[in-house]
Amino acid sequence: MKIYERFSDAEMKRLGLTGNMPKHVGIIMDGNGRWAKSRMLPRSLGHRAGMDALQEIVRVSKSIGIEALTVYAFSTENWLRPEQEVNALFSLLVEYFYKEIDELDANNVRVHILGSLERFSPKLRELMENARERTEKNTGLHFAIALNYGSRDEITRAVRSIVSEGIPESEITEETISSHLYTRCLPHPDPDVIIRTAGEQRLSNFLLWQAAYSEFVFTDTTFPDFTPEVYFECIKQYMHRTRRFGKVLEV
Ligand code: IPE
Ligand code: IPE
Ligand code: MG
Repeated sequence: MKIYERFSDAEMKRLGLTGNMPKHVGIIMDGNGRWAKSRMLPRSLGHRAGMDALQEIVRVSKSIGIEALTVYAFSTENWLRPEQEVNALFSLLVEYFYKEIDELDANNVRVHILGSLERFSPKLRELMENARERTEKNTGLHFAIALNYGSRDEITRAVRSIVSEGIPESEITEETISSHLYTRCLPHPDPDVIIRTAGEQRLSNFLLWQAAYSEFVFTDTTFPDFTPEVYFECIKQYMHRTRRFGKVLEV
């Protein structure tokens, strides 16, 4: 089991990570299939390689002082994939939770699941719920896994619960909506930066509401090849951006 150390100031400087660090990073982990195809391997092995890459990304996120990391692991549209691939993905997830939970917990990581668990097998559900409950009191990195997640589904569910709670129309604010989204469990629900791997430049139903002012960083690297070095380059790109939030910065 590995204990994730915070990098020293000197190490951060050596890595060039001395600017404004994002508090919440979102990653659309894409390109597992293409990674496998280019090696003439089955897609499931691409997903396995993606899981290995993810393990390192979680570790270094803590080392560089990120407060929240949200990764897109399975979308509401991914059910449209062949059953065999969907099953392979879920077996990998079961394995991931079994393997990683002790290490995550030992490193004070708090696990969150964004998405509805109702379509999953009882075994996977139990594992995910256990991971969430077991790490509930941890105070380190918030690690959110978007699973069976779709932003339109999330917003639809939020509207339904606002209506069923009988909140009067005049009291509905942007905050009411935000506080009914899955991301309400995170300290900074809106990601500062969303990174997408494998060259695609779209959100694919990821955090549509929360991305209102996020910066986007796209890299051609597929997710299995998304090493900490590539990750740090993406963070550095973010650090060079000027965020205006609609304002004029100099007059
Ligand atoms: C991302 O890789 C993983 C999931 C969407 C579950 P893909 O499986 O989408 O890989 P490509 O896009 O086909 O290369
Ligand atoms: C987005 O990737 C979903 C995840 C990374 C889990 P997809 O590969 O499913 O997205 P599209 O179909 O290329 O937009
Ligand atoms: Mg894809």
